[in-house]
Amino acid sequence: DEKKLKKFYIGSIDQGTTSTRFIIFDGTGTPVASHQIEFSQIYQQSGWHEHDPKEILESVEQCIEKATQAFKDQGHDISDIKAIGITNQRETTVVWDSETGEPLYNAIAWPDTRTKGLVRELKAREGADELHDLCGLPLSTYPSSVKLLWLLDQVDAVREAYDQARLSFGTIDTWLLYHLNGKERGIHVTDATNASRTMFMNLHKVEYDDKLLGFFGLDRNKIKLPKIVPSSCPDSFGAMGSGSLKGIRIAGCLGDQSAALVGQQGFTPGSAKNTYGTGCFLLYNVGEKPVISKHGLLATVAYDFGRGRKPVYALEGSIAVAGSGVKFLMNNLGFITHSHKISDLAATVEDNGGCVFVTAFSGLFAPYWIDDAKGTIFGITQHTERGHIARATLEATCFQTKAILDAMELDSGHKLTELAVDGGMSNSNLCMHTQANIIGIPVDRPAMRETTSLGAAIAAGFAVDIWEEFHELKEINQKDRKIFEPSISKEESAKMFKKWGRAVEMCRGWLS
Ligand code: G3P
Repeated sequence: DEKKLKKFYIGSIDQGTTSTRFIIFDGTGTPVASHQIEFSQIYQQSGWHEHDPKEILESVEQCIEKATQAFKDQGHDISDIKAIGITNQRETTVVWDSETGEPLYNAIAWPDTRTKGLVRELKAREGADELHDLCGLPLSTYPSSVKLLWLLDQVDAVREAYDQARLSFGTIDTWLLYHLNGKERGIHVTDATNASRTMFMNLHKVEYDDKLLGFFGLDRNKIKLPKIVPSSCPDSFGAMGSGSLKGIRIAGCLGDQSAALVGQQGFTPGSAKNTYGTGCFLLYNVGEKPVISKHGLLATVAYDFGRGRKPVYALEGSIAVAGSGVKFLMNNLGFITHSHKISDLAATVEDNGGCVFVTAFSGLFAPYWIDDAKGTIFGITQHTERGHIARATLEATCFQTKAILDAMELDSGHKLTELAVDGGMSNSNLCMHTQANIIGIPVDRPAMRETTSLGAAIAAGFAVDIWEEFHELKEINQKDRKIFEPSISKEESAKMFKKWGRAVEMCRGWLS
């Protein structure tokens, strides 16, 4: 009952693309303490995007300490924290020395496009056509596989470690679990959702596939790949090895977009959510069998709660630029002083004034997959103001969401009647109303938008028996949801979308 649930707590590490958070939830899904830290984005060259793995680890440790202190200051007891969940930016690739635990290069972040040329070569390689059916992902700059190949090819220390069979590979979940446990414990694992983003995992069998590894020329005797385990597990992820939460079990781990689907309770086939973070990711639950997309979407593991339950799959539409577009207006162009001011700026004008901004900073992801597209603003005149460009920036994500929903309808034969949303940009009423107008269905936003962290807490809570069945969660985060209804005609919205489609075609094949 509610009184009992309020006495259990679960900590949730959310390691995102631009910031790290630690939130402590009670058993009713209410956050009681939290801390957030932004960390460095390293752009050494145009198209390159890196993170310092050690800085990421430190940001996690600091968030845990700060939030735990706030928790104690409220009079709570650490011994009531029953478990910890981890959720993370996906695909971002870390390599380290198996003997020392030291990283051998910066992490290559998921939006990085340095592998553009390599991807073109790989597409021409024999066997390239078979990859998609096996792993659910198209060959692009996005997954971990191509990032790892670049590191092996370009960084001497990485190649040497590989040749001497002391190279460890991991996505951010694996890197954090390895160090949070204390490297002497040798925990080198990943969950099925994160593994499904590497291109090394057979999606149907949820295990590494020799054909996939062979295609990328990887010798399993020379590289340590993390063991794939379910996302909710009482004993595979170890426990905190140091700090205030030392000894507390880590019991849940899943990629951030999967976590958001769990946090929104998208447990039935046909349910979907769209998370507007650094990028924007729409996940649609397809049930216990993967659906390989024919229309530019990804097939991925949605979540795997283990203990006799089968993994559940999703179709995913990935948009590379959402909040990062707003940050670009702030950091590079000086349009605003804080991200949340984007709404006010957009509200200074009535519409986009004829501007369309294709925010293709990492090429374009789903459903287009145009890796040589570059960010382009169309329709600038003497009349154009900052407000128009702000609107066009928000609209870019909304248009891509519309294109993804159209593709999803073709792949699944099912039309969504409402879209559940969360993530930073969903705080903007203007943006969510625009979204409803562009997709022509209502947009449904929860009051508590930390659904990604909540999803990791739920995965951990299931592993330690705080909950046993999904229906026990049904009260969580249901109060005070806000619905945005479309308010323009179908014709008007179709006209806007047509213009967007033309802009996408025009930014193809930009000379680099
Ligand atoms: O695939 C990348 C994704 O996991 C990043 O999420 O929220 O940091 O944009 P986010």
